[in-house]
Amino acid sequence: MDKKIKTAVVGCGMISNIYIKNLKNLFSIIDLVAVGDRNPAAAEEKARTYGVPRVMTIDEIAASDEIELVINLTPAFVHYGVIKQMLLAGKHVWTEKVITNTLEEARELVNLANEKGLYLGVAPDTVLGAGIQTARRALDTGMIGDVSSGVVTINRNQSLNAELFGFLRGNGGSLPYDVGVYYVAALLCLLGPVRAVSAFGAPAKTHEPEFLYANDEAAPWQIPGSNVISASLRFRCGALVSVLFDGNTVGAEQHNFILFGSRGVLKVGDPEKFGSPSSVIYADQPECVLPFTHGYNGVNTLEATPFDHYGHRGIGVAEMAYAIRRSRPNRCGKEYGLHCLEVLAAMEESAASGHAVELHTDFDMKPLAPGYYSSFFGGMARADAERSLMD
Ligand SMILES: NC(=O)c1ccc[n+]([C@@H]2O[C@H](COP(=O)([O-])OP(=O)(O)OC[C@H]3O[C@@H](n4cnc5c(N)ncnc54)[C@H](O)[C@@H]3O)[C@@H](O)[C@H]2O)c1
Repeated sequence: MDKKIKTAVVGCGMISNIYIKNLKNLFSIIDLVAVGDRNPAAAEEKARTYGVPRVMTIDEIAASDEIELVINLTPAFVHYGVIKQMLLAGKHVWTEKVITNTLEEARELVNLANEKGLYLGVAPDTVLGAGIQTARRALDTGMIGDVSSGVVTINRNQSLNAELFGFLRGNGGSLPYDVGVYYVAALLCLLGPVRAVSAFGAPAKTHEPEFLYANDEAAPWQIPGSNVISASLRFRCGALVSVLFDGNTVGAEQHNFILFGSRGVLKVGDPEKFGSPSSVIYADQPECVLPFTHGYNGVNTLEATPFDHYGHRGIGVAEMAYAIRRSRPNRCGKEYGLHCLEVLAAMEESAASGHAVELHTDFDMKPLAPGYYSSFFGGMARADAERSLMD
């Protein structure tokens, strides 16, 4: 048995519910000992609801001798300060996406983690779910041959969504950064690093609050950055992928994710979900849905809560904890997180300059071992998928 890693969560808002529930119940490598928030009442509520032993201040977590790993679930615009404080205090850090809102700060944090020999894991960890891992296996085993191209789209009314989630009104709230990152992350997991990006962009419209029930007195706002991006990505493997993120339309989501190969076509499931299936299409054959080859399909086997549709968030933390214990790289590592951010930033830069932007950084993400499953007895009991996170 690997020694459990004493872990603390910083940031006890909406997404902390599913993290804390999963980390407390699904991953034997994690010992969740404390939660903290700049608002102590929020941390106390989560500790009470999920049975976390201690509520600590952020400074107490940083100063603790026993806590090895800190999970940062604060909004993106405060990531830099929280991550830096924890790395300087000698903690391994897992952070929700994106590492930070600026490339300069992200690079500084990656360098700091390297200097101190610490792990810095970066969401989204949906790429480790059954959906994307099965798609990866299909590619790795040559089911569609060499990928020559692809098309990826997602649309929402991001300004309307920002009425409910206030942090979307600031930097990092645009559709490409908030949601497009799941698509970029899945592309990276499936196809590897990007070598060049060319893009056009359009800003969000100024938004007049609509929801009377939200009782929000906020003045009209405009989400910063490009809320629509149309980009072309050239991957190191040679694939050319067209990407469209449109946050200026309606919330009737059309998530398309299609990869074209020399032998077939792969329709990849929704990359925001852990268990959205993919299918393969061959010439003159009916479309064939692929059975999952991996665990973590997003299906809850524990007592139900209103947050279960957020799936198996926390896999990336557990996988990183095994990496720490076994002195190997973690899959959703800092280089992967930095490359995700570089791709998003390159889209903005290309849209602003009218020129293609070259990328030079690399990352390596090994697939998880196949053949492990999250549940058995028709979904009623938990199976042994945690074993797939060990090596
Ligand atoms: N909401 C979602 O659907 C969702 C899904 C996946 C990932 N995420 C990501 O998770 C992160 C948090 O999202 P959320 O929806 O839980 O946000 P939230 O606003 O509900 O919660 C954030 C919490 O962080 C606390 N906080 C803010 N600044 C802090 C600081 N300096 N130190 C300590 N605590 C601080 C706030 O008090 C709040 O409790 C973001 O990075 C977001 O992109 C959100």
